[in-house]
Amino acid sequence: MKIGIFDSGIGGLSVLHEAYHQLPDQEFIFYADTEHVPYGLKTPEQIIGYATEITQFLIDKGVDAIVVACNTATSVAIKGLRKRFDLPILGMEPAVKPAVEGTDDKRIMVIATPVTIREDKLKDLLHRVDEHHRVDLLAMPRLVEFAEREEFESPDVTEYVNSQFSAYDKSDYCALVLGCTHFNYFKPAYRQYFGEKTLLIDGNDGTVRHLADVMGLSISPDKDKKMDDEHNILCLRNTEYFFSGKKVLDKETIKRLQRLHLRLEQVRNI
Ligand code: DGL
Repeated sequence: MKIGIFDSGIGGLSVLHEAYHQLPDQEFIFYADTEHVPYGLKTPEQIIGYATEITQFLIDKGVDAIVVACNTATSVAIKGLRKRFDLPILGMEPAVKPAVEGTDDKRIMVIATPVTIREDKLKDLLHRVDEHHRVDLLAMPRLVEFAEREEFESPDVTEYVNSQFSAYDKSDYCALVLGCTHFNYFKPAYRQYFGEKTLLIDGNDGTVRHLADVMGLSISPDKDKKMDDEHNILCLRNTEYFFSGKKVLDKETIKRLQRLHLRLEQVRNI
């Protein structure tokens, strides 16, 4: 089966990376819209335009299903895409439901882009699942910039993360939901801020399991095995990578993708 996965940039690689673990035998096309990142600061109309074009591109490449590996694009574009195109299109939304169901009565913080936080999709979700009003929302758009620059551990990142969280009392929180795929790269910074007990919840595992379910694929029994760098990451599996419509062929970009997968492997279980 050929699966198309797209995002505004390198955030969606975290979903692809999880798919390497769970569905290692499938073929993938990964599309990062690097010319238009960040989506989180664009208008809904712009994002719908990009997402429609990318979906058509992936369909022309023969994919059997598409994962919108972007919470922002999902919030504004998923309904229209499903109406317009006749193949399974899976979206992502902040994993609020598992966070609410899997924790006690302490508070839950959802971090996402400004668009995701503003849109009705997240409000509707909270209305359905956040019965006791335990969830707080926080936009962290600069993390997308930092991620695109591969700046994951710098003093500027630490300062930004700490200052964004500083208005909240960290001891009130039992879970942090990563409602933007770019935010996965910064798990060590959140862990350092919140300490060992706060759960870090991303949507990748749920999204890939949902994909497997919809497409009738079985999940690898080795999904939790750590990938050994040489064979599993550096060959980038059965994947064609595109950056805004251009196939990635140059050595430098391939090296960059390998570095990013290595980072995602390191932070997968933090
Ligand atoms: N990675 C995207 C998300 O999950 C959006 C980041 C951006 O382009 O602003 O929301």
